[in-house]
Amino acid sequence: MIAGNWKMNASISSTGEWLAAMADTAVAGRDVLVCPPFPYLGQFQEAVAAGRLLLGAQNCALEESGAFTGEVSAAMVRDLGCEYVILGHSERRALFGETDELVLAKMRRALACGLKVILCVGETLEQRQSGAAESVVAAQLQLALEQLSDDDWCQLVVAYEPVWAIGTGETATPEQAQSMHAFIRGQLAARSEQIAEQTRVLYGGSVNSATAAELFSQQDIDGGLVGGASLDAEHFLKICTA
Ligand code: 13P
Repeated sequence: MIAGNWKMNASISSTGEWLAAMADTAVAGRDVLVCPPFPYLGQFQEAVAAGRLLLGAQNCALEESGAFTGEVSAAMVRDLGCEYVILGHSERRALFGETDELVLAKMRRALACGLKVILCVGETLEQRQSGAAESVVAAQLQLALEQLSDDDWCQLVVAYEPVWAIGTGETATPEQAQSMHAFIRGQLAARSEQIAEQTRVLYGGSVNSATAAELFSQQDIDGGLVGGASLDAEHFLKICTA
């Protein structure tokens, strides 16, 4: 799976151009997912209906519906054709105070609405330098491992995104990434071998067309979650075929 997270970027016209550039390019054998900002989700309906792309949202509300000004519900993004939602992104954790408990509650809401979830985990530079990277990632996975059912886990993708590699141009080396992915696989296996085998674990953090192939060839890396480089359709396509 190659997923593009546009974050708070794009416009109606740039989205139209991106879709036009992707229009007659089928990427065989991989799931290509794009997660644009909420206002542009509707522009993807044709591409989604034609089976060219999967669509995801970057967030969803905890609550089901009602007086929550400014929020967008899981049911709404499902209604707009989203199959996935990204939850637990480090930007939401750091800038919007999202805790593991909140992320779990949002996951439950999203799953109840028929969405699949990309659960993001990853350590900061400080945590890595102090030798805490694995324990931080284990803690971010813990609630989902303890509290979600096997059926729920069939709907989950894990994305390992070291915070120090996001938007910095500093990709984790394939060895660093593989090592953490193997650790994550082990955490999943401690819950269930089947979950460990079936769950896709994506790498994210400054993925580009030059680094993608080597990262994706690592044993426990099942694809990528791509930020900046996914905004440019040509660049994104190169990553999708890497
Ligand atoms: P960049 O690819 O821009 O580093 O972003 C990664 C990311 O946060 C994707 O969710």
